[in-house]
Amino acid sequence: MKLNKKVLALIVLGGLSVSGNSMAAGTASALDLANTCAGCHGIDGNSTGPAIPSIAEMSTEYFKEAMLDYKNPEGRLNTVMSRIAKGYSEEEINLMAGYFAKQKMVRQEQKFDATQAKAGAKLHKKYCEKCHEDGGRSAEDDAGILAGQWTTYLEYTMADYVDGHREMTKKMKKKVKKLLKADPKGMEKVIEYYGSQK
Ligand code: HEC
Ligand code: HEC
Repeated sequence: MKLNKKVLALIVLGGLSVSGNSMAAGTASALDLANTCAGCHGIDGNSTGPAIPSIAEMSTEYFKEAMLDYKNPEGRLNTVMSRIAKGYSEEEINLMAGYFAKQKMVRQEQKFDATQAKAGAKLHKKYCEKCHEDGGRSAEDDAGILAGQWTTYLEYTMADYVDGHREMTKKMKKKVKKLLKADPKGMEKVIEYYGSQK
């Protein structure tokens, strides 16, 4: 990664914002821990490529659940993240959760089809908004941020959900089923909508 001015500024800011949280001497700070994720998720949690999700601004609740789920051999399986998550204690995960929740999500500049995105907005409202509030922008709660997330990652994730590689909550599963029944191309449209958001 090129260490340009912006990144340096972020490191300094990040260091300041987490210094109050650092644990006893000898324990890695939140920033030290987050540094090991930077190659893929960016130092500020905004990922560097479309197949890797941005994790900036994510609620601590969602972040912790995701990491614990990766650690669980019967949980969310991913070759990269399942291996990485195993290396961290719950305490370290909590520290990183606090660090990334404080970063700002950068909604990526992505190509999208305006007609599809418009149709997707309507479908989102009907089937997804209840839990993914504010058009999927809401970082509160346990549902993750969808608006401005990389659409390639969202496509992979939805495929994982639908084929059972990642478990959906019962209620979301019901809505996804309904969406696909109403419009077999509905998922693509909803994803275009998330990708269109600035
Ligand atoms: C080699 C690249 C790589 C590194 C290093 C890496 N990740 Fe990931 N991360 C990924 C990929 C790829 C995914 C998507 C996996 C999936 O589909 O479940 C992911 C997913 C995640 C998610 C779930 C995001 C979501 O929207 O559900 C979290 C949280 C996460 N990573 C945290 C971390 C943390 C914390 C670190 C550092 C300790 C880290 N990652 C290091 C590649 C990486
Ligand atoms: C009843 C609540 C609920 C509804 C309705 C719902 N979701 Fe979810 N969604 C969740 C929760 C909770 C999670 C996080 C849990 C998990 O790890 O799977 C989630 C996670 C996701 C994720 C993964 C985010 C990430 O960063 O990896 C995607 C994508 C998603 N939902 C899309 C949708 C779409 C599209 C719809 C509408 C068709 C929808 N959801 C409807 C509750 C809901």
